[in-house]
Amino acid sequence: MRSAHRPVLLLRILLLLSSPFPWRLAESAVLGVNWGTASSHPLPPSKVVSGLLLPNGIARVKLADADPAVLESLSGSGIGVAVGVRNEVLRELSASKKAAASWVHDNVTRYLPPGGSGGGVRIEYIAVGDEPFFLSYGQQFQPFVVGAATNIQLALTAAKLADKMKVIVPCSSDVYQTESNLPSKGHFRSDLNKTMIELLAFLSKHGSPFVVDINPFSNLQQKKNISMDYVLFQLKSRPITDGHNKYNNYFDASIDALVSSLSKVGFGNMDIIVGRVGWPTDGAVNATSPFAQTFMQGLVNHLQSKSGTPLRPKRPPIETYFFSLLDEDQRSIATGNYERHWGIFTFDGQAKYNMDLGQGSKSLVNAHDVEYLAPKWCVVNNNLDMSNVSASASEACSKADCSAMSPGGSCFGIGWPENVSYAFNNYYQQHDQSEDSCSFGGLGLITTVDPSVGDCRFSITLRTSLSTSVQGKFPFFTIILSAFISLYLFTFS
Ligand SMILES: *[C@@H]1O[C@H](CO)[C@@H](O)[C@H](O)[C@H]1NC(C)=O
Ligand SMILES: *[C@@H]1O[C@H](CO)[C@@H](O)[C@H](O)[C@H]1NC(C)=O
Ligand SMILES: *[C@@H]1O[C@H](CO)[C@@H](O)[C@H](O)[C@H]1NC(C)=O
Ligand SMILES: *[C@@H]1O[C@H](CO)[C@@H](O)[C@H](O)[C@H]1NC(C)=O
Ligand SMILES: *[C@@H]1O[C@H](CO)[C@@H](O)[C@H](O)[C@H]1NC(C)=O
Ligand SMILES: *[C@@H]1O[C@H](CO)[C@@H](O)[C@H](O)[C@H]1NC(C)=O
Repeated sequence: MRSAHRPVLLLRILLLLSSPFPWRLAESAVLGVNWGTASSHPLPPSKVVSGLLLPNGIARVKLADADPAVLESLSGSGIGVAVGVRNEVLRELSASKKAAASWVHDNVTRYLPPGGSGGGVRIEYIAVGDEPFFLSYGQQFQPFVVGAATNIQLALTAAKLADKMKVIVPCSSDVYQTESNLPSKGHFRSDLNKTMIELLAFLSKHGSPFVVDINPFSNLQQKKNISMDYVLFQLKSRPITDGHNKYNNYFDASIDALVSSLSKVGFGNMDIIVGRVGWPTDGAVNATSPFAQTFMQGLVNHLQSKSGTPLRPKRPPIETYFFSLLDEDQRSIATGNYERHWGIFTFDGQAKYNMDLGQGSKSLVNAHDVEYLAPKWCVVNNNLDMSNVSASASEACSKADCSAMSPGGSCFGIGWPENVSYAFNNYYQQHDQSEDSCSFGGLGLITTVDPSVGDCRFSITLRTSLSTSVQGKFPFFTIILSAFISLYLFTFS
């Protein structure tokens, strides 16, 4: 494990030596990203850390779980980390203090520096559950959340880690409701009455913030009588008047609806973190890069103004985590086909739009030296009888990712049989271009001519197996870097 994080550490030293970087990191420390790994071919974690997070000055990440490869790649990077406890284990953790203790031991303690000083993974939060109160989950997780959080907290205390990290519970914004979009009318959902009070008492006792995920895009889809301008931080938007307060954007109104809800039950002063906020770029109407860029830049500028909200002037959320770092082709599409397209970066680490994260640069740094499979695609052989092809296409789509072909998506309306080829190719790439994954009863044909149609990209997937051998090359790289650093330090001391 040690040799795996040494290159990242050295890279950091190099970055620290190249002057303006350190304070840029500090300045943008209120901004973080969600880094999920629900991908068939994830970008290698070491590449994410050294090629995307550090060069873009991203100082904090929130993880959906405690993936060992991801945590090891963050070791020594100095990046603040929120590790996640999956909803599925809440029941067990709430029933057993022992299970919570081993969860902390296996997924937290193991990654901390041995002496308690520098190095290791800088874990700041343990996020217990992932929107466990989401309305469509019903009562599935609700009874176990506070118990699991309590047992995790006990385990942290026992491991003498309680002063180093906080337990949080990321909540979907449907835990509270308003009437007529008025923030002052905000209140917690009545079915959560008892649980929410217990949760707030727990958070308050341990000095933990309230974490809320804000999802303007899906609210807009549900036509909640809000305008696009209002959601996109446009100055021309018609403000909503609430008593003597005026709201110019959806984000502030959502935060203040939460502040009202907290106040009504006696916790009006609790710190707030936005655990997720973003805009998808494919798979639905208005899920486009230009809208995403407008939303994200509007949000960044608003947060950097530190103006806060009408109910909390000059007191913006203490941290805000963008959703999300990368596209993930295996995320659940139960709530919409756009769910696989939240990335600021494409699955292969390329920025979808320009954005100034407060570092003065208008453009984001892309991942480089990304390793792809061969330039080969699978398409339908239209010289054959295609009368039965739609069954094969549906079959491919049910296993692969056809979300870009939904109405409003980048591959919507590319026509027939191109849409069949799209399905075949996606399936083929997800199966590492194995020859038999392009058979489709003899209808599949492997080609070296890129079949992409306009904006509809027929992608080639990443060579993920190579990530280990790339790491194997690092020791040599490390020696060269060490030599340069020694020389540098020697020369200037
Ligand atoms: C975390 O710890 C638990 C309990 O020891 C274990 O079952 C689980 O696989 C670990 N890893 C993750 C990613 O949660
Ligand atoms: C929740 O609280 C409200 C107001 O205190 C009350 O009217 C309502 O009946 C409660 N609901 C439940 C399910 O306890
Ligand atoms: C929608 O919002 C506008 C402006 O805030 C308001 O005037 C109107 O009454 C609202 N309509 C409904 C159906 O809530
Ligand atoms: C898409 O955006 C336009 C404004 O640009 C808006 O009028 C329309 O209602 C939006 N459609 C959906 C489905 O959100
Ligand atoms: C299409 O499917 C039908 C029913 O399964 C089958 O009888 C027919 O031979 C198939 N046609 C071709 C060209 O494969
Ligand atoms: C492809 O397009 C045709 C015609 O528009 C449609 O009938 C068919 O369902 C589409 N197939 C897929 C896999 O999207």
